Amino acid sequence: MYLLIPAAGIGKRMGSNRNKLLLTVRSQPIIAWTLKAAVAASKISWIGIISQPTDWPDFKVILADLKLTKPVELIQGGSTRQESVYNGLQALPADAKQVLIHDGARCLVTPDLFNSCAQAICQCPGLIAAVPVKDTIKVVDDNGIIQSTPDRRQLWAAQTPQGFDVKLLKQCHAEGVRLGWEVTDDAALFERCGIAVQIVQGEETNLKVTTPQDLAIAEFILRSKGF
Ligand code: CTP
Ligand code: MG
Repeated sequence: MYLLIPAAGIGKRMGSNRNKLLLTVRSQPIIAWTLKAAVAASKISWIGIISQPTDWPDFKVILADLKLTKPVELIQGGSTRQESVYNGLQALPADAKQVLIHDGARCLVTPDLFNSCAQAICQCPGLIAAVPVKDTIKVVDDNGIIQSTPDRRQLWAAQTPQGFDVKLLKQCHAEGVRLGWEVTDDAALFERCGIAVQIVQGEETNLKVTTPQDLAIAEFILRSKGF
C-alpha cells in the first residue's frame, strides 16, 4: 500500500518559528514518530513525504538517522494541505490503485491502524479513521449565538489515515480545483462528489499535534506507551 504523508505546513497554531513536525517529543522529531509507525506497519510498502524544499535538509537528516527499510520519497508541498495532497497524488507511482493519506502531525498513530485502513480500502472507494465525539457540539453564528445542537450520536471526529481509490481521488481533486472548493481533508472532496466514505474506528490517542499543549499530551502518551 502506498502512503502519502502531508508534512508541508508551517504550524502556525504551534507558534514556533519552524515547521512543527521538526519539533521533538520524547527526544525525537514529530515526523520521525509518524514515520516509525508507518514503517512498522507491514502493509505499507512505499512512503511519500509531502514537504517544503526548505525543510528537506532537516528531513534528510531525520531519514538517514531512522535507517528506514522502505522506499521513501520527498515530494514538494503546496500552500494548502489540499494543494500538498494534490502534488502527492501526481507523484504516486503509476501502479498505485489505492492510497492512504496520513497527516505528519498525527505522530501517535499505531501500525495497527495503518494496517486496518490498508486492508479496508481494498473493499471500498474511500474511508477515514474517526472516533465518536465526546463533547456536545454546538453550531454557533457570527454573534456567538447558538443556532443548533446536532445529535451527538451522528457526530464523529475525523482523523487520518484516510484511504482512497487513486483514480477517484484524482478526479475529485480536479473537480475541487475546477469549482474552487476549499476543504481541510480529502474525504470532504469525496463527499462533495457524492462518493461514499466509510468510517473506520480510529484511536482516541491519535491526536493531531496542533498547539503547544498537544506537545505535552503527545509526550505523555508516548511515555505511557513505553517509548
Ligand atoms: N500540511 C501540508 N501542506 C500545507 C499545510 C499543511 O502538507 N500547506 C500538512 C501539515 O504539515 C500537517 C497536516 O497537513 O501534517 C495537517 O495540517 P495542520 O495540523 O493544520 O498543520 P499546519 O498547517 O502546519 O498547522 P497550522 O494550521 O497551525 O498552520
Ligand atoms: Mg493547517
